[in-house]
Amino acid sequence: MLKYNCTYTYERLIEMLKGKTVLLGVSGSIAAYKIANLARMLTKLHCEVHVLMTENAANFIHPLTFETLTQHKCLIDTFDRNFEYSVEHVALAKKADAVLIAPASANVIGKIANGIADDMLTTTVMACPCKKIISPAMNHNMFHNPIVQENIEKLRRYGYEIVAPDHGMLANGDDGDGRMPEPEILLKYILREIYHEKDLAGKKVLVTAGATREAIDPVRYITNHSTGKMGFALAEAAAYRGAEVTLVYGKTEAEFPMFVKPVSIFSAEDMFNAVTSAAPEQDIIIKAAAVADYRPAEIADEKIKKSDSELSIKLERTKDILGHLGEHKRDGQILCGFAMETSNVIENAEEKLKRKNLDLICANSLRQEGAGFGSDTNIITVITKDGKTELGKMTKFEAANAILDIISAKTHQ
Ligand code: CTP
Repeated sequence: MLKYNCTYTYERLIEMLKGKTVLLGVSGSIAAYKIANLARMLTKLHCEVHVLMTENAANFIHPLTFETLTQHKCLIDTFDRNFEYSVEHVALAKKADAVLIAPASANVIGKIANGIADDMLTTTVMACPCKKIISPAMNHNMFHNPIVQENIEKLRRYGYEIVAPDHGMLANGDDGDGRMPEPEILLKYILREIYHEKDLAGKKVLVTAGATREAIDPVRYITNHSTGKMGFALAEAAAYRGAEVTLVYGKTEAEFPMFVKPVSIFSAEDMFNAVTSAAPEQDIIIKAAAVADYRPAEIADEKIKKSDSELSIKLERTKDILGHLGEHKRDGQILCGFAMETSNVIENAEEKLKRKNLDLICANSLRQEGAGFGSDTNIITVITKDGKTELGKMTKFEAANAILDIISAKTHQ
């Protein structure tokens, strides 16, 4: 039995981000104050952070705030010659692993979209070969102005990533679109660019998560304890590794992952339809959902009223989705199942691996503390036809990455 010794701990995350250079371009909007928090989060993750501000931005937040947080001079004026780089903007542009312009005002968006480079921020961005992320923040009407929208579209066409602004109360008290998302969200956009090698780039990955619900009547249904945490962790980790992820999910209680295409389902039958219609184009399918094996044979049209006698519900089998996928697996497609057991964990999982024609199965025991429903950790043994790998106790995100390491190695075989 192999012991997995490469976990995605916080230390590992730092190791992966250490030495990465992130440029934060801040333009004139009240949301500029939120970027101080983002700069702090990035430096805590050991990233090298440089802040470039427009002159207008300096009216909203003092450059000293960023200089204190990043330990680097905040760059505003192209003609300031008193610091470390000879040709500032070119040197920084070369070094950057990711650039985020947030908040991006209509003015800055317009300039970049139309090739105007007349200050430190715009000249640097123009010289950057790395990925550029833009987070527009402005008044609702400004944001929906067709000129601004056309500029945004143009940037998108040129490969800029646009962070959709939130809807909510804006600086002037109006309700509308144009709020810059919170720094935690912006951090995820940056991490997606610089965290982890993109070993799943170009791969289509379908993940299922959560519990199916089988209706009894218009009020009630049968379900299980799955919270979707393991499936969500797998979907998020695969997206960070460059995959195009479709997430088919039922009832869940976990925070929904970013950067995935969501497909919401109710029952096992819905999941069967969603998964089998998307399956032929997928390179990797991971079935982490807890699917009902039985459903009520009939769903009552009206609410079932109580009486003094006993009530039995006749159940019938649902379709085995994974079994169906195994039967119809195309060449080169990788199929990964899960087996949560209460006894004979490895034997049962090995039997499912063969019966369902899987490439790997992730076995865990509901009886082990730190594994199973709802907890943030899992204790998984990954079984392939070549052998078993014990992952040990780790967070579900770490376990997701460990499983993806094994899958990724298979895709490169
Ligand atoms: N699964 C599925 N469709 C079903 C039931 C299960 O696709 N109708 C998938 C699950 O998503 C999981 C794997 O099959 O990846 C194993 O699920 P599990 O319930 O442990 O296994 P079963 O095949 O249902 O076997 P048993 O009930 O005998 O344990």
